[in-house]
Amino acid sequence: MLTLLNICLTRRLLQSMLNPSSEQADRIARLFNYFNVAAGGMVLLVSGLTLYICIRFRSKKTTRHIPEQTKGNNKVEALMITVPGILLAFFFYQTVSVMHSVAPEPDHFPPPDVIITGHQFWWEVRYSAAGVTSANEIHLPAGKRVLLELKSADVIHDWWVPALRNKMDLIPGKINHLWLNINKADTYAGVCSEFCGAQHAWMRMNVMATDSTSYRHWLQEEAATALHPADSLSAKGSVIFAAKTCGGCHNISGTASTGQVGPDLTHFASREKMLGGIMPVTEENIYRWLSHPQEIKPGSKMPNFIFSNDTLKALSHYLGQLK
Ligand code: CUA
Repeated sequence: MLTLLNICLTRRLLQSMLNPSSEQADRIARLFNYFNVAAGGMVLLVSGLTLYICIRFRSKKTTRHIPEQTKGNNKVEALMITVPGILLAFFFYQTVSVMHSVAPEPDHFPPPDVIITGHQFWWEVRYSAAGVTSANEIHLPAGKRVLLELKSADVIHDWWVPALRNKMDLIPGKINHLWLNINKADTYAGVCSEFCGAQHAWMRMNVMATDSTSYRHWLQEEAATALHPADSLSAKGSVIFAAKTCGGCHNISGTASTGQVGPDLTHFASREKMLGGIMPVTEENIYRWLSHPQEIKPGSKMPNFIFSNDTLKALSHYLGQLK
């Protein structure tokens, strides 16, 4: 229980609405607070009046007759129309202006900084201008306005990073957009929040916001082709990877593997987590995953190849050094 609490309190995993961290999140949070103040005031007013009436007009032992009855009060009625009318107009204006400032202009989009495609059950992240493709970890520059293009390869998914606020659906055959101006460099946890199948709960992502120099540096590193096998075991792994047709689904830049079905593995080992957040990227975990994928993530598109121990060792060693 304590461990769970510890994990939840670790900022990296905390998906909190109470910590708005983008320009868009700030605006939405301010509107939300206006609503809270108005609703709180209303609750206090109604419960206060109810309490007052209960005490002031309670039945007394001396007076058993029905109290004096009144009908209609123009002043009170005028007040009851004017006050809600003003509140309604205020919130209508605020809501529309926040929607306008948060949502992208529908007519002319500049080319998106990042194209995010939802898959069952992982996030494809493509930086077209830099020729970079990654998965599940979305690196973005902090303090800069970026445009996200969101689409789906199969069913409806939903982008939601609570600290960055606005959600956006990823819909097959439709392209949606999202502006983000992240306030400060940090890691923000997010999830798919539209039920999309058996492993919907393990379709997590991390938005990693860094200063623009680190961001450019990261893009350069990611744009490079994959590292060559550093030792004989990983060389054996790379040969097996090609021979067992892993490249039919996965891309490793600089090799003959150019598949586009599963996550790009060019710099796979530079990511923190694998399988949409299930486990850290380590050789042992890759070994476990390759030996029984459908037990670890049932319903994912990864087939069980029934590899021998030696094959698994070589493959996981090769994949584990793809930094
Ligand atoms: Cu993708 Cu739920």
